[in-house]
Amino acid sequence: MCGKCRAKVKMYGAMFLLGLIILMSRAAEALDNGLALKPTMGWLHWERFMCNIDCDRDPNNCISESLYMQMADAMVKEGWKEAGYEYVCIDDCWPSHQRDAQGRLQADPKRFPRGIKKLADYVHSKGLKLGIYADVGKNTCAGYPGSLGYYETDAQTFAEWGVDLLKFDGCYMDWKLLGEGYMNMSKALNKTGASILYSCEWPLYEWPFRQPNYTAIRETCNHWRNYADVYDSWSSVKSILDWTASHQDIIAPSAGPGGWNDPDMLVIGNFGLSHDQQESQMALWAIMAAPLLMSNDLREICPRSKELLQNRHIIAISQDPLGRQGYRTAKVESFEVWERPLSQNRLAIAVLNKQEIGGPRGLPIQAAPGWKICSPKCNVTQILPQYKEMGVQTPNSNLVVSVNPSGTALLTVTPISSNFPGRQSLHWQHPSFKHKNNIL
Ligand code: GLA
Repeated sequence: MCGKCRAKVKMYGAMFLLGLIILMSRAAEALDNGLALKPTMGWLHWERFMCNIDCDRDPNNCISESLYMQMADAMVKEGWKEAGYEYVCIDDCWPSHQRDAQGRLQADPKRFPRGIKKLADYVHSKGLKLGIYADVGKNTCAGYPGSLGYYETDAQTFAEWGVDLLKFDGCYMDWKLLGEGYMNMSKALNKTGASILYSCEWPLYEWPFRQPNYTAIRETCNHWRNYADVYDSWSSVKSILDWTASHQDIIAPSAGPGGWNDPDMLVIGNFGLSHDQQESQMALWAIMAAPLLMSNDLREICPRSKELLQNRHIIAISQDPLGRQGYRTAKVESFEVWERPLSQNRLAIAVLNKQEIGGPRGLPIQAAPGWKICSPKCNVTQILPQYKEMGVQTPNSNLVVSVNPSGTALLTVTPISSNFPGRQSLHWQHPSFKHKNNIL
């Protein structure tokens, strides 16, 4: 072989090895249960139905087996399953206040007369998965029995019932023992041999005392709540976005296939958000690579909210295989620009209009730092507020995105590389994307 060729082979070999090492180190970072390779999609009861246990007065909306069965039915009939929503999740207030004689959790017998295993069977028969809720401490947040001292028993019980996801809350626990507790439950779930996606709230409960260790969290959980509970209001959604942006350099690098930051449920389809605000939540949850867990009433949801939640272009951004979380990259004239790198060198850009007075306002697309990737040319697709192919653009295009107050415009940018090798458009990176954990 010629000297030059040998050098080339060596170089490619080294590059391959480096790639392999990077890939392997990434895989080792995430909880190694093969789950949540993309942000989880499903439905979770809490924000909409809370701890309504009064089935005598409110049989249609109380926490009971029929609520989850009806949601599962709706998920299949109304196109949710087809759109990618898969998990039907129980939150707090499902168990009986006493464990059984063997120390096992049991469902409230009045509200779940057939028990959780039968409910799991039903949900599985629809091709969906069932999630359940427990707590790392002595009690759940609503005062039901917690799992402290029972991690192995509870993990085993959930596995025997055929549960597919565990949301593990952090109430009534000494904060210094949070990490140990969450890790022990992770091990206990793993030991059952069942595939149980593990959704944690560890960092949320640790932040008031110290900065959580996100490397350990990613190794332990499939997603993790960082911040306060979402409410059905624009101020709540905004506060979650603000918290996320102001902590993005700490939290975003730890997101990737197998583990995600969880900014809490989608409240789209309820009472508190205008349609523009619902579009903002959907767009920004996709940019943040957040789990898409709706908390609404799927039996009765307005067609516009349904269409938004099932928008396949937004879902494609959420579920993009590159699995990188986006960042807030600019604040300009009461607009916020958020950007998420996508597979195949593409970029999603969200422009949020934070001025809550007046009418629609325009922002020249060049204000988005990521617009640099449109070089020498790119294809632009607008996804929100309406789907529109914007055609081929150049870095100097006079494209202006118009955004309603508290609404969001969402675009994808696909660079078109020139024919000259060596002049291929390189993926632009916000400085925050270059964090040491930010591999791939
Ligand atoms: C905490 C959690 C919520 C919900 C409630 C249930 O507040 O953060 O998501 O699970 O507990 O009591």
